[in-house]
Amino acid sequence: MWYPDNEADMAQAAAALAAGQLVAFPTETVYGLGANGLDAAACRAIYAAKGRPADNPLILHIAEPADLSRLADPVPETARALAVTFWPGPLTLIVPRRPLVPDAVTAGLDTVAVRCPDHPVARALIRRAGLPLAAPSANSSGRPSPTAAWHVAEDLGDRIAGIVDGGPTAIGIESTIVDCTSEPPTILRPGGLAREAIEEVVGPVALAGESRGAPKAPGMKYRHYAPAVPVTLVPRQDPALRRSFEEGRPLGLLLSDEEINALPTPPPQIYLWNLGPGDRPDLAAARLFDGLRRLEAFGVEAMLISEWPETGLGLGLMNRIRKLTRKEDRP
Ligand code: TXA
Ligand code: MG
Repeated sequence: MWYPDNEADMAQAAAALAAGQLVAFPTETVYGLGANGLDAAACRAIYAAKGRPADNPLILHIAEPADLSRLADPVPETARALAVTFWPGPLTLIVPRRPLVPDAVTAGLDTVAVRCPDHPVARALIRRAGLPLAAPSANSSGRPSPTAAWHVAEDLGDRIAGIVDGGPTAIGIESTIVDCTSEPPTILRPGGLAREAIEEVVGPVALAGESRGAPKAPGMKYRHYAPAVPVTLVPRQDPALRRSFEEGRPLGLLLSDEEINALPTPPPQIYLWNLGPGDRPDLAAARLFDGLRRLEAFGVEAMLISEWPETGLGLGLMNRIRKLTRKEDRP
């Protein structure tokens, strides 16, 4: 483990990146698994470490918004407007790539995903390495995204050069991805920046349908974010919650504060994870992935999670919850 306030640790982490190795680091959304984003071999090592399908491209992380034009050409007007307003921040822009971006980053697409994260440690590491960093979420493919250093260690600890521990991440779900090559711009993945905020800047945007045809963000077609045991989505205050107390087997319940208060005292084999006030999906987003991993570590056999309103960060939160409660992979 490396610590950001230790000068020697940050120097080692940057040197490892420059040498083509993999380093996990915090961002304001989730931890990223970083590699030199201009080095195809280093990027391929990311896919191997995560067990990530080769058709699922990576995001390039930059320290300065102005660096977008080094990777993208042309820079669409909507991308410029969104970057000016929301970078650094939890927003990823899909833009036409320049030839220097390796195919290993884009999975052969003619566009590239770029983000300037709003986290001092992420930006310090990118600056020190002097490179754009390719960085997917630092989990094994399909597992809950990492919002703390121990989540990364659990999945990837023995496969990477090191982890920069910057404490828990504030937002807790990944960035919102906006395709700026379409008209109107399209949200390919709802996330840490609300759709409402984006529309204030560029007007109405489309939301990529998940039901029809090939998903445009290739990563969105896989079962995702899931712990080792099945998780079932139930309506708020569902009678199944109370009934689960009588099952006798260890179960995990991820609920709003109000739902927990409405339940009787649980028997010892029931583990509750409080996601916060029911009208604060932004707080629930920050607690979701940690709760899944902790309940898993308590040895529960299954989990129940209830619905959240889909306004603000609730859109991204429910997107994650639907994917992790999905029974099987769609083709
Ligand atoms: O918040 C985040 O975005 C985090 C942190 C580490 O920055 N990163 C992250 O990366 O979530 P990852 O690899 O888990 O998700 C990247 C998503 C995938 O769904 C991928 O298919 C999509 O971005 N993507 C990447 N390049 C793309 C492109 N050129 N066109 C469409 N989708 C793309
Ligand atoms: Mg991911």
